[in-house]
Amino acid sequence: MIQVESLETTKRIAEKLAQVVSENDVILLNGDLGAGKTTFSQYFGKALGVKRTINSPTFNIIKSYKGRLPFHHMDCYRLEHSDEDLGFDEYFNSDAVTLIEWSTFIQDYLPEERLEINIKYIEENKRVFEIKSVGQHYNQLKEVLKDDDATD
Ligand SMILES: Nc1ncnc2c1ncn2[C@@H]1O[C@H](COP(=O)(O)OP(=O)(O)OP(=O)(O)O)[C@@H](O)[C@H]1O
Ligand SMILES: [Mg+2]
Repeated sequence: MIQVESLETTKRIAEKLAQVVSENDVILLNGDLGAGKTTFSQYFGKALGVKRTINSPTFNIIKSYKGRLPFHHMDCYRLEHSDEDLGFDEYFNSDAVTLIEWSTFIQDYLPEERLEINIKYIEENKRVFEIKSVGQHYNQLKEVLKDDDATD
């Protein structure tokens, strides 16, 4: 668990992740409405070198950007009652990095190996990040994030 005391901490963790991701990485971002998934994604994308403004993909579901690596930003909120496959596998294997908000709604299409960040709202600017990894590569990413100053 990482104690996040401020927006600045969220930014620092997103930047750290952006430095270490590689092609075909898939990062799941879960947490309630307003937890900070899109905010994290915006910091992440910027640190990955995206120049365009990163907006919430809630309505489009998938938005793609150019950065150090191509960046696919997904928000599967609107797929809660659907089991439509929007070609997820092709996105995951396109030599890009993919961040998925509300990934639980496409559970069946997710790769087995991935990093998951669960954002829990504590109070106005405070959050707790719970990080889970499946696969050796993602275990390493998790270790890098855990090295954050304010970690237990
Ligand atoms: N430490 C923090 N980390 C992330 N967001 C924070 C933090 N502190 C305050 N916030 C604020 O909380 C809000 C989070 O909104 P955001 O749109 O990122 O949530 P979300 O999880 O994407 O919600 P949704 O499920 O509706 O898409 C923003 O207004 C952001 O500025
Ligand atoms: Mg969002």
